[in-house]
Amino acid sequence: MIHIPKAEYTRRRKALMAQMEPNSIAILPAAAVAIRNRDVEHVYRQDSDFQYLSGFPEPEAVIVLMPGRQHGEYVLFCRERNAERELWDGLRAGTEGAIRDFGADDAFPITDIDDILPGLIEGRDRVYSAMGSNAEFDRHLMEWINVIRSKAHLGAQPPNEFVALDHLLHDMRLYKSAAEVKVMREAARISCAAHVRAMQASRAGLHEFSLEAELDYEFRKGGAKMPAYGSIVASGRNSCILHYQQNDAVLKDGDLVLIDAGCEIDCYASDITRTWPVSGKFSAEQKAIYEIVLASQEAAFAEIAPNKHWNQAHEATVQVITAGLVKLGLLQGDVDELIASEAYKAFYMHRAGHWLGMDVHDVGEYKVGGEWRVLEVGMALTVEPGIYISPDNQSVAKKWRGIGVRIEDDVVVTKQGCEILTGGVPKSVAEIEALMASAR
Ligand code: GLY
Ligand code: MN
Ligand code: MN
Repeated sequence: MIHIPKAEYTRRRKALMAQMEPNSIAILPAAAVAIRNRDVEHVYRQDSDFQYLSGFPEPEAVIVLMPGRQHGEYVLFCRERNAERELWDGLRAGTEGAIRDFGADDAFPITDIDDILPGLIEGRDRVYSAMGSNAEFDRHLMEWINVIRSKAHLGAQPPNEFVALDHLLHDMRLYKSAAEVKVMREAARISCAAHVRAMQASRAGLHEFSLEAELDYEFRKGGAKMPAYGSIVASGRNSCILHYQQNDAVLKDGDLVLIDAGCEIDCYASDITRTWPVSGKFSAEQKAIYEIVLASQEAAFAEIAPNKHWNQAHEATVQVITAGLVKLGLLQGDVDELIASEAYKAFYMHRAGHWLGMDVHDVGEYKVGGEWRVLEVGMALTVEPGIYISPDNQSVAKKWRGIGVRIEDDVVVTKQGCEILTGGVPKSVAEIEALMASAR
């Protein structure tokens, strides 16, 4: 299995600590277990920030980073080993495993955190944490601070500054290392195979969930624990619902099906959309819309390179889509004016993409100092233009209504431009029709 090597986690912690102010401490909690119903839990997914700095896959754990601390800069609080619990729920690293296998300088049982952590915070000027994202943890943190404050008369020194960790950490996460790109390529490769499989299986009479099953099969077979987000399998008019997830309609001859799905490998997402005719052949109208979306995506790729800014790719898609809609008579007027008045938003209401990484809509600022961010090598993003003609749109001829097309690929910015990670699944009308014909 391709995964992030241990040394990378060490490097990340060091890089974060190098950016922290002197005499500071960073504290991050693991994700809580989420209950699905009664005593059934959701599949556990580690918090992305926590995973990024530790690779530690268990709940009930807290990372503490203290740059410059002589007795160890990295302390991990975690669950103790427990034969009874491990018999029922699976192995735990325990404090020894945290040191031996996960690089902690020191480790303590999570049950002792209230006794130990105030002592680690005491005397430090600044506390970095993800303030506001975990109310329960924020409350704990204030309790630990208050323990120190209550001892001020004994000479204890509580910290005076509380700093949001996100700014430093999320900027680091925005730039993908070679190891991260390798994992993202693998997630993309498996997701491409899943889309190809679903395309080959597509038949009128099946349900949307039958195609979802084909996706899940390839995801699991490839080693993914789960999809990176709820798979969208949207046929017919459902393709015009951007985040459709019901996935229970019957596929009909003559309809398109839009699938937006990607798996997650070692907590890195892929995010692919393809749209194809249920029975393998595009109608004239479907093809006309599809070709515009495809051309707009190509135009966007050309705007992704170092020194181009974040919005250039989006602007390119808006230009091509608006001009295309005018040509088909779906919009009337001057292209520049239709762009200025945002008339295209009746058909293209979302942006051309987002950062991609451990979170499918990944962290990282899109603007810096009020200006669109300039792209740099290692940034990963999606390129996903679409046209959606509402089934209820009375201002267009009937033949266009209910057509929804999105095409989405994942790219990483390179020195020359960008690398497309998700090229392994057909995209042109001819390629899609040929693949589907060969599967019949
Ligand atoms: N799958 C969600 C998105 O494309 O942004
Ligand atoms: Mn998507
Ligand atoms: Mn996306």
